[in-house]
Amino acid sequence: MSEIDAASASLIVPQIPSYEMKSSNPLKLGIMASGNGSNFEAIAQAIAAGQLNAQIQVLIYNNPGAKAAMRAANRGVEAVLLNHRDYKSREKFDHQIVEKLRQYDVEWVILAGWMRLLTKVLMDAFTDKVINVHPSLLPSFKGIHAVEQALAAGVKITGCTAHLACLEVDSGPILVQAAVPVLPDDTAETLHARIQIQEHRILPQAIALAAQRR
Ligand code: GAR
Repeated sequence: MSEIDAASASLIVPQIPSYEMKSSNPLKLGIMASGNGSNFEAIAQAIAAGQLNAQIQVLIYNNPGAKAAMRAANRGVEAVLLNHRDYKSREKFDHQIVEKLRQYDVEWVILAGWMRLLTKVLMDAFTDKVINVHPSLLPSFKGIHAVEQALAAGVKITGCTAHLACLEVDSGPILVQAAVPVLPDDTAETLHARIQIQEHRILPQAIALAAQRR
C-alpha cells in the first residue's frame, strides 16, 4: 500500500458504538431485495451470531432469478416473488407488497438493494419503519449508480448510509454511516466491494438502533 493509500485508509471510520436492544421480543423483519442479496445475508448472519435480536419473516424480491431468493432458500427463509412488471401502477404493486408483508406479520421493512421507487401506499402502511441502505454518504450521490457518481465526482472519501426511508429516493433520517476511502486505482467494482463490507456492518446496527429509538 502506498503512503497515500495508507493515509486514505486510516480515514475509514469503522468504530460504531455497540448496541443493545431494549426489547426482548425479536424484531419481525420483512426484507426486500432486487438482486444479489448480500445485505440480506449480512442481516441473517447478524441474527445467527446473536448480534441482532430479530427474525426474518419473509424476503420479497421483484426480479425472477435474483440471487437473494437462493440465499433465502439456503437459510430456510420464505421468499416471495412479486414482479413489478405484472402490475399496472407503482401503487398497485405496493398494495400487493403491503398485503404480503402483513400476511407474514412483518413489523420492520428493510430495503436491502431494493431498486424500485416506493409510493405512499407502502410508506403509510409502515410509517417510520422502513430502513434503506445506500452505497454513498448521503445526501451525496442519490439514486442509481451511486458508486460511479462518486468516482466521476473525484471524491476521495465515500461510503454508505443506512437510514429511515421516506418518499423521496435515498432520503430520510440517517441512522448509521461508514466512510470508505477512494483509492487511486479504484474501479466501480473494487470500490463497491469495499463499500459493501461496511454496508454489511452498518445495516444490522441501523436496524437495532431504529428499534431502540422507538
Ligand atoms: C447495495 O450496495 C445497496 O446499497 C444498493 O444496492 C446494493 C445491493 O447489494 N442500494 C441502492 O443503491 C439503493 N438506492 P446486495 O443485493 O448485495 O445487498
